[in-house]
Amino acid sequence: MAGGPSKRGLGLLVLGVWMMSPFTGAQEQRPLNLMPVPSSVQIGAGRLLVDSSFSVGLTGYTEPRLDRAAERFLRQLSRQTAIPLATKPGASAKPVLLIHTDHASKEIQELGEDESYVLEVSATGAKLSAPTPLGAMHGLQTFLQLVNVSPDGFASPAVTIHDKPRFPWRGLMIDSARHFVPLDVLRRNIDGLEAVKMNVFHWHLSENQGFRVESKKFPKLHEMGSDGLYYTQDEIHDLIEYARDRGIRVVPEFDVPGHSTAWFVGYPELASGPGPYEIERKWGVFDPAFDPTNERTYKFLDQFIGEMAKLFPDHFFHVGGDEVNGKQWDANPKIQEFIKEHSLKNNEGLQSYFNKRLEPIVSKHGKSMVGWDEVLDPSLPKDILIQSWRGPDALAAAAKQGFRGILSNGYYLDLGWAAARHYAVDPLSGAAANLSPEEKARILGGESCMWAEYINPENIDSRVWPRNAVIAERLWSPEETKDAASMHARMEILSTRLEWLGLTHKTYHHQMLQRIAGPSTPEEFAALTTLASAVEPVKDYTREETATAEPTSATPLNRLVDAIPLESATARHFGESVDKFISASCQDAATDARLRAQLTAWRDNDRDLRSLARRSYLVKEVSATSGDLSTLGAIGLAALDFIAKKQRAPDDWKAQQLAVLEQVQKPKGQLLLMPAPAVQKLVEAAAAGGACSSPN
Ligand code: ACM
Repeated sequence: MAGGPSKRGLGLLVLGVWMMSPFTGAQEQRPLNLMPVPSSVQIGAGRLLVDSSFSVGLTGYTEPRLDRAAERFLRQLSRQTAIPLATKPGASAKPVLLIHTDHASKEIQELGEDESYVLEVSATGAKLSAPTPLGAMHGLQTFLQLVNVSPDGFASPAVTIHDKPRFPWRGLMIDSARHFVPLDVLRRNIDGLEAVKMNVFHWHLSENQGFRVESKKFPKLHEMGSDGLYYTQDEIHDLIEYARDRGIRVVPEFDVPGHSTAWFVGYPELASGPGPYEIERKWGVFDPAFDPTNERTYKFLDQFIGEMAKLFPDHFFHVGGDEVNGKQWDANPKIQEFIKEHSLKNNEGLQSYFNKRLEPIVSKHGKSMVGWDEVLDPSLPKDILIQSWRGPDALAAAAKQGFRGILSNGYYLDLGWAAARHYAVDPLSGAAANLSPEEKARILGGESCMWAEYINPENIDSRVWPRNAVIAERLWSPEETKDAASMHARMEILSTRLEWLGLTHKTYHHQMLQRIAGPSTPEEFAALTTLASAVEPVKDYTREETATAEPTSATPLNRLVDAIPLESATARHFGESVDKFISASCQDAATDARLRAQLTAWRDNDRDLRSLARRSYLVKEVSATSGDLSTLGAIGLAALDFIAKKQRAPDDWKAQQLAVLEQVQKPKGQLLLMPAPAVQKLVEAAAAGGACSSPN
């Protein structure tokens, strides 16, 4: 960090430093827009132009992976500028960007390797220095984010960045089991992880609904447990190489003893109940579980884990361990007898027994065992790692007992939380804030989780991105990086850049809406788009509760609820404008006009949508919400009229509007009308009269 400012100075430097353009004469204000925010940034003088003469050279330690990283960087730079660039590094004696790497990283990427880098950009050239290829790859991603269009070409500002991660474990889990996720989709998401400097892809590979890995030892696992949708070992090997090329470890998860129906389709003898078993089609927690009292279970798992330990080189091996409901164990007298004989108390005791048998198997094959909170048992070896999905207190408890842990509670992307809510979750907050430094050091970072009940190749990117980028920032950037307004601005810019990587989280939307609309006039399609932009799917675990028919893996994901992003940027922007208007004592004419334009568009939107609803059942399903959006527009406009006339809105009017607003906030078609709370603020401001209409 030599020469870098202290961490305390960071907010000022990164969030508040603006570039002065020497070319326009005027002060052109432009933040750097990096995500994740680096540890330290110093702005220099001038900028480095990026034109077709741009070149990259490598010095110091080199390896083919670094050449490929440089080529990928050049291709990406070319894509984002549309400037043709020679994509082979090293041809020029004096490259524009010189990458110096000190030494090799580990043969198999390890937890806690040095990922730091220093990037110095001046008007005449750039230098990226890193101890290992991992840091060099991170620095290249930072450079890509620095390059933007300027009045006379593409350029990076002159800047010196010293950067390193706050946490060593920064991951994304994708569940490829409930819905199979094709390899090309995984690859583009791994590209996204590289862009935001995440370094773990946790691959959830087995579930009640599918066993997704080819096993040569136990072929009935994939042959009978996957509907033919599984990854071959060659494909897995290639994906691991692909991730390694991007500085990303691949941690496999095979969930035992619960979440395991798909294993038992081919091997019913491993289960605790009689079977036969079929691949599960529904969502939820199910009864089938491995029989921990049967020696065959351990023999099988030993051979299976031995095979998988060779296929997946990472040092960590995830065995799941979550949500065993114990019903098959309760129903099996032999198992209950075993519990008594071994003085195990209850089913939790039996699961502990199972974990104590499993851990030496995982360890024997050279791996450290990872499990969800449920595996936590003080008598297990301290080498295991706990992934906390149930809460930060569980993570702190694990750290207190001497276990290492990562946080996922608060980072479940499938729950539909706003980016700001994920962003506020810190692995070292809550109970963890009171841990000793030694205990805190056991909290290694976190992982976002993409559970797959409601994703398919079409919409998965939009469920992961751009919100995953703010979790990546939480795990990479200094703890003080917390400003939500800055985060939102940078997230939106990064979101567009991610599409240059091939992610489809923005473009998928149009295609899905076209399917929903069918042949339509531009006005009708615009009406559907307007409605889509103002709603979000129901949150948390309420999608099953609000379904009209029980959802299964055969349920089409083609409805508006599947096509909209999980966070409405339109609603957020509207809410920000309302806050701005009210905090200006409702005296801000420009914001008033903007709010009126938006509210008018919403009020009038239903007309065109109604004609479409007569032709498409997928539109008809959302016509009640469209009516509610109209109502919302009309209420907001009425509130603004009271405010404009400096009239205090009558109490009975306020009561009526609040009652209507309560109605429109009830989910319909599994959609939530997101601008409603902001419209409610306008109603309250109108009814407060003087408080809003006079600035004193
Ligand atoms: C989990 O969400 N059951 C790990």
